[in-house]
Amino acid sequence: MTTTESSSTLSAAGTLEAELERLLSVESFPPPADFVRRVPYEADAAAAAADPVAFWADKARELLDWDTPFTKVLNDENPPFYKWFEDGTLNVSANCLDRHVAAGRGDKVAYYWAGEEGERKVVTYADLLEETQRLANGLRSLGVGPGDVVGIFLPMIPQVAVAMLACARIGAVHNVVFGGFAPSAVRERMEVSEAKVLITVDGARRKGRTAPVKAAVDEEKMGDLPSLEHIIVVEAVGAAGLGGQRAPMTPGRDIWYEELIAAADPVCPPVAMSAEAPLFILYSSGSTAKPKGILHTTGGYLLGAAYTHRTVFDLDPETDIYWCSADVGWITGHSYIVYGPLANGATSVMYEGAPDYPDYDVWWKLIAEFKVTIFYTAPTAIRACMKWGAEYPARHDLSSLRVLGTVGEPINPKAWLWYHLVIGGGRCPIVDTWWQTETGSIMISPVPGVTSTKPGSATRPLPGISPALLTEDGQPLAAGTGVLVITKPWPSMLRTLYRDDERFVQTYFSRFGPTTYLVGDAARLDPDGYFWIIGRIDDVINVSGHRLSTAEVESAIVAHEAVAEAAVVAQADEQTGQAIVAFVTLAGDRVGDDAMVAELREHVATKIGKLARPKRVIWADDLPKTRSGKIMRRLLRDIAEGRALGDVTTLRDPAVMAALAAKVAAAGPED
Ligand code: WTA
Repeated sequence: MTTTESSSTLSAAGTLEAELERLLSVESFPPPADFVRRVPYEADAAAAAADPVAFWADKARELLDWDTPFTKVLNDENPPFYKWFEDGTLNVSANCLDRHVAAGRGDKVAYYWAGEEGERKVVTYADLLEETQRLANGLRSLGVGPGDVVGIFLPMIPQVAVAMLACARIGAVHNVVFGGFAPSAVRERMEVSEAKVLITVDGARRKGRTAPVKAAVDEEKMGDLPSLEHIIVVEAVGAAGLGGQRAPMTPGRDIWYEELIAAADPVCPPVAMSAEAPLFILYSSGSTAKPKGILHTTGGYLLGAAYTHRTVFDLDPETDIYWCSADVGWITGHSYIVYGPLANGATSVMYEGAPDYPDYDVWWKLIAEFKVTIFYTAPTAIRACMKWGAEYPARHDLSSLRVLGTVGEPINPKAWLWYHLVIGGGRCPIVDTWWQTETGSIMISPVPGVTSTKPGSATRPLPGISPALLTEDGQPLAAGTGVLVITKPWPSMLRTLYRDDERFVQTYFSRFGPTTYLVGDAARLDPDGYFWIIGRIDDVINVSGHRLSTAEVESAIVAHEAVAEAAVVAQADEQTGQAIVAFVTLAGDRVGDDAMVAELREHVATKIGKLARPKRVIWADDLPKTRSGKIMRRLLRDIAEGRALGDVTTLRDPAVMAALAAKVAAAGPED
């Protein structure tokens, strides 16, 4: 096949469509013949296959700087409570900043920051180090010390990296909350983690408008939380951005970030932390309404982030310009915007803005401007770009790109091929990276220049990672479809759920025992040993690569006074992968009309965030339940996706299903 078409010749819609159709029948794409790999790989694969623990020990010495070298590599005496490098000490911020500056690379750019109205900022490693030290001292002056939790609720501005690194410098534990979450979700996460300080912003810009973030935080009465002593506010938009008034501040409690760092000592030596000291908590959705506080520690996590960032993206820190379009509030942002790239001394682009503002070509414009060589995004974004059309990327020179990545959800082959042809010009390997908040770093992924890729498959495990497929009753499968597990510990694995060891064991290590990590995904293994991730096996919905729990959305909906009961399921969606469908029973004589749909959607947005709004609301007089009262979500999924109904004999009242199905059929596929 030809692999050199440029995006401009393909932008003629007919030609592109024909080429996509033709390539859909190609099963496997060998590494492009002229791809020159920069990072050696074969020796790692061989070493890891021979002895994974020794392999990780070698990599930990090679990639990280230790204050006290470790003598123990893995402690597996008390599974699933594994420890890595436990007698070693190091500081994450020193590994991300000081050592690069000390090596004479202080002037190297850490971030090219871009704002949506064309603003640009260049942040070097020396800049980051100075501001991190000042903020670390500022935090200390507020009484923050090792083990204290610091909440971070910031948009994609360089201060978000500074805030994370400043915590790491003094051994505080950060708890970043995605900027798109509602303030009430932030409050919940601050409350359960007993955060001592919250770092937030006066306002955040999005598509030409400014959201008054600090005012919203105040409205949520976050300052009333008993543990929360101070709120640090970055002045990002100022009075001009907030209609003439600076953000509201409560004297004694609230402090301007700029004033805090200006007054602080610019020198703050990094604290040598135990490799097993907590680095951060990141809340993620699980099977219940209560989010899980996934806890990562210092040495193992940083090793996982640094090693995979280098290996999977074939990173050459001297020449590559790397851009991950995720938000720092998700694990992808933690590992692949902050810790992996900085540990490796890479130069990244950080963009605060949407892909469709001011126009649909803004991403491609940035790639051309900064000559981005490695681009990492989500399938849902690629599908959106496909819908907007190839003419937008065609406006820009994308020839600097050499590696493309995706993460967050399975990628459909057509979107993969579009990415390959239109963005990658047919010449860039695509790495479809499978991993989770819990795994800390990428687990299954092609290696550019090494692995033959198959559109839709995350391909094979990285060195030192041991995934396997099991049947429902725990029998290993050599091929076919089963439950995905990881059979050996790896350095960047979560250590526990914050203050909830029991839920940690129960969620991940009870089904198949304490040494087998239950992923929560189903997958297929093909005869070539390639993994194809199918999706979640628990009550987690993946909307545009964002994890949401059905229970969390349900409890937000039933909190509305008009609602008696609700059940939430996922429906396949061309754009977002999965979409949320809510079956709702209203209280008393409340009427389910369009106004009520809008009200419920808005209600969910304020409880959780916009991404959790149901795409469809179906009014139900009653919900299908088993005799023990459990809602049968399987049947609701059948209805939502228009399938023939499965077995209804276990229902307390089978007539409920018939009535519901008839109603949805009468209303057509979309309410
Ligand atoms: C899904 C995001 C298919 C999967 C890094 C996993 C994927 C969940 C892929 C974790 C992929 C992630 N192919 N599915 N390449 N990557 N997933 O914790 O269901 O936000 O369990 O971490 O996303 O989501 P999380």
